[in-house]
Amino acid sequence: MAINIETHYHDVLVIGAGLAGSMAALKVAPVADVAVLTKVFPTRSHSTTAQGGMAAALNNNKSKGEDSWELHMFDTVKGSDYLGDQDAIETLTKDAIEVVYELEHMGTPFSRTPEGKIAQRPFGGHSRPRIAYAADRTGHVALHTLYEQSLKEKVNYYSEFFVTKLIIEDNTAKGAVAVDLRTGTIHVFSSKAVMIATGGGGRIYKVTSNAHESTGDGLSLVYREGLPLMDLEFTQFHPTGIYPLGILITEGVRGEGGYLVNSKGERFMEKYAPDMKDLAPRDITSRAIYTEINEGRGVGPNKDHVLLQIHHIGREKILERLPEIYKFAITYAGVDCTKEPIPVAPTMHYFMGGIPTNAHSNVIRDEKGTPVAGLYAGGEAACESVHGANRLGANSLVDTTVFGRRAGKHMYDFVQQVGRPVLPKDIAESTVKMLEWLLSGSGKENVSKLREDMQQLLWDTCPGFRDEKAMQKGLKEIKVLQERYKNVGISDRGRNFNMQLKDAIELGNMLEYAEVVLASADFRKESRGAHSRTDYPKRDDTKFLKHTLAFKGKDGTPVMRQKEVSITRYQPQERKY
Ligand code: FUM
Repeated sequence: MAINIETHYHDVLVIGAGLAGSMAALKVAPVADVAVLTKVFPTRSHSTTAQGGMAAALNNNKSKGEDSWELHMFDTVKGSDYLGDQDAIETLTKDAIEVVYELEHMGTPFSRTPEGKIAQRPFGGHSRPRIAYAADRTGHVALHTLYEQSLKEKVNYYSEFFVTKLIIEDNTAKGAVAVDLRTGTIHVFSSKAVMIATGGGGRIYKVTSNAHESTGDGLSLVYREGLPLMDLEFTQFHPTGIYPLGILITEGVRGEGGYLVNSKGERFMEKYAPDMKDLAPRDITSRAIYTEINEGRGVGPNKDHVLLQIHHIGREKILERLPEIYKFAITYAGVDCTKEPIPVAPTMHYFMGGIPTNAHSNVIRDEKGTPVAGLYAGGEAACESVHGANRLGANSLVDTTVFGRRAGKHMYDFVQQVGRPVLPKDIAESTVKMLEWLLSGSGKENVSKLREDMQQLLWDTCPGFRDEKAMQKGLKEIKVLQERYKNVGISDRGRNFNMQLKDAIELGNMLEYAEVVLASADFRKESRGAHSRTDYPKRDDTKFLKHTLAFKGKDGTPVMRQKEVSITRYQPQERKY
């Protein structure tokens, strides 16, 4: 089978066009020829689905007193169950303020206070109402703004390009290999710097708020190169996914005064978080919902979800602040939320872990923090780590933009100091072989069926509440699924827009890091943040106030190591809300 291979050179290669990638591209573009490779059209990246807002201590809403970056930092450290690196969190919370104003000045249409300042609403785990928002489409408008700006800076976009291999040699990033999904051709890109901004990997779970594209491709790309993945056991379940689909209903609903009720009509969050109630952090709120369901107080014929009430705040306010939610509830639940509650249940939402990076978003290769020259990561694919064991809502959009910006600034200097790389020979060979295998093979395993089996497996064996027995079963069965994948087959043999081909490559990626999620969760024998083990219900700071690093072992099985947590200002305490 003849497969065309084209070669390209750009100074910087950014993989992924969401907020982190776009911000990085924009910042380095003044001194570099930048290419962004993206699996979907840039403004369809998953960042656009972020609804509720961006946390930053702008101090525009003083209804709970003065705000400061220090308070934001403390809330984030506490929210992370003390696993977040405090130096990185300090950077996040200081830079957040600048980044929100920078986005505003670029043209992001934030919602306003009556006097014209950026409006700010409350969110879970934040002790002050510090969430800057644009109704309930904050990610959407922020990404459109960055995309427009990047076009002005002449950033090159390669849309519908699926990266299949990173080129890393002598601890230095040199480019990437990609398939052009429009034509099925292979493209080799060489570059002085590479940034991975491919987003999260929630699609390994059966119920998720993540887009179909969120298949964690970047995680598998680095893992296959012998680099570690950090803290992948911390999978966040957002409390309010529309039941049963899992589509996100923003925490902004509760920020605007909405609350959760069980089948008895009780506002049950009062029991679990007497102070913050419905605005407790996500790990606590999701566990509370599961507990209500497990103890028989769920609603519906199967008693397997709860209700989110918002109609008491009034139709006018709902339509002004939550217009998308109003439409989502009608479309996906058949509910008019100006009159009746929305059925909700926890949905897999976010990976706190990812590719470990330092303060410049430079990828590190070990527990000592040794950087890989020219390799960067940002957004949900990366782990700086600012979220530790549990991310606070609205800290994601600031993470993407703050650390995307830092990556862009670091690359700005870096690319001016290094020369063009020389690529190893036959670097596209593994991609050629993969395409030949998938397009000419005779495998019998169906991609959709295998994907469904994987999603069910993760849902059953590594959910919000986990234990060793279930995870051991998950680890055994994921190996079986990986074996079955070797016999995968697709019926479309065409080269143009072959979505079966894309699905098959994505599935290979997901099966790779799904094992790391399970292995890391099994390794962490304690409960912390979103990682809640029924067999180890307590936090264990002696053994596990540490990050988990997972490396791909010789036989493919993850090998675990640990990395110290940076503690600068706040010593670990018990979390109470
Ligand atoms: O609830 C939300 O709007 C989600 C925000 C986030 O994940 O930060």
